[in-house]
Amino acid sequence: MKIFLDSADINEIKELCKTNLIDGITTNPSLIAKSGGNILDVIKEICGLVSGPVSAEVTAIDHKTMMMEAEKLLNLAENVTIKVPLTSDGLLTCKELSKNNVSVNVTLCFSASQAILAAKAGATFVSPFVGRLDDIGQNGLDLIYDIVEIYNNYNYKTQVLVASIRGVNHVIESAKIGADVVTIPTKTFKEMFNHPLTDKGLNAFLSDWQD
Ligand code: E4P
Repeated sequence: MKIFLDSADINEIKELCKTNLIDGITTNPSLIAKSGGNILDVIKEICGLVSGPVSAEVTAIDHKTMMMEAEKLLNLAENVTIKVPLTSDGLLTCKELSKNNVSVNVTLCFSASQAILAAKAGATFVSPFVGRLDDIGQNGLDLIYDIVEIYNNYNYKTQVLVASIRGVNHVIESAKIGADVVTIPTKTFKEMFNHPLTDKGLNAFLSDWQD
């Protein structure tokens, strides 16, 4: 399973890429706004920090303007993945870009029917948002089961990129289900390293070694 970082914070990305465990980055308009930078500058800088795909989201809602924004983003670097919302215009854009071998991430997926359409539009990645489904009292991971099963049934090539992850459990369950990618916030990535018995064991080894 690939691990992407869900962040537009340059310092955070620099720090965590040093682990050599990060396979790509996802951003969204809210994360870019939080970074305080201009989208083109921020995406360009991030693309220079990782060799894997960097998802950059269009902000237009109509197909024509989405295509124009995509073109600008694609000019920034070779590892840009265009992120489009799961709307009719977003999927039109996805289909057109995919036809030209552009990597596309279809985002804001909240149902299996939407995921079927994303696969049919040729998406490289589909991003189901588990945390936001949990937030409204549904079980977000159920959606991941459904999409993985459906994609396997038809051998769809679209990769399931689990997004809106709230903690390590979402990562573990996504891996058990067989999702292709998880995109996680810095905090969750750091938590993945931790176990109290690792700390306790290490302290014991170090103190035995000193005796
Ligand atoms: C995914 O690409 C999105 O950027 C992200 O995972 C959304 O997460 P949130 O629901 O925590 O905002």
